[in-house]
Amino acid sequence: MKAGFIQTYPEFGEVQSNLKRASALMEKKSAELWVLPELFSTGYQFHNIDEARNLAESIPDGPVCRALIDWAGLHKTHIIAGLAEIDGESIYNSAVFIGPDGYIGTYRKAHIFDSERAVFEAGELPLKVYDIGTARVGIMICFDWRFPETARSLALQGADIIAHPSNLVLPHCPQAMITRCLENRVYAITADRVGVEDRDLDNPLKFIGQSQIVDPDGNILYRASEDSEEVCVVEIDIEKARNKKINCENDLFSDRRVDLYKLQ
Ligand code: ACM
Repeated sequence: MKAGFIQTYPEFGEVQSNLKRASALMEKKSAELWVLPELFSTGYQFHNIDEARNLAESIPDGPVCRALIDWAGLHKTHIIAGLAEIDGESIYNSAVFIGPDGYIGTYRKAHIFDSERAVFEAGELPLKVYDIGTARVGIMICFDWRFPETARSLALQGADIIAHPSNLVLPHCPQAMITRCLENRVYAITADRVGVEDRDLDNPLKFIGQSQIVDPDGNILYRASEDSEEVCVVEIDIEKARNKKINCENDLFSDRRVDLYKLQ
């Protein structure tokens, strides 16, 4: 199957133009699965919870979701996109999963990073894997990479591909995701953004780009630049992710020593 990402430079608060720009980038290539960055439609650095509340939308009936549902239907594709979600009084850093026939599901970022805590609640929805026929897809968001249990939980539930909308500011994630793929023999698609947000002058953020697709052997199929918008689509061999053997003797899943591990 063909899967890809867009790497974007959103303008804070300019939801309609960020959406238009993302659609235009996806229109440059065709894919059965697209991964978009974290908070792709709003930008990242909210001043406060009121600002987030004004820019967040409900899933799946908010305006960005409805536009993505239309776009995915028209292009007969799947999209996983990072959004600010509002549900009652709660605001989440979420990813919506949309297919050619409409809304599929939502993931709410479980590991909230740094100043995000002032705005977002930590997600409480289970880590879940979606079977879309051509692949089984799990979702995690940005800083979730730092907690290897996240990718492991998705892989143990059968994920072939981990979709990873991101707004990376720390340098280590692109290399760490190679390890997540080796540990679990899965594909990972990290869709990041580029550019700077300096809305908080005490804490200007530079996003590192380097969106990438890594295969179950740890090969980087493509890594994007640190500073430009990009579109990438690669061919994914799902069977590779379903074979957990690393040689004749070792199987990554059945060799696990759950009798020895103490995770609580
Ligand atoms: C991050 O989790 N956006 C760094």
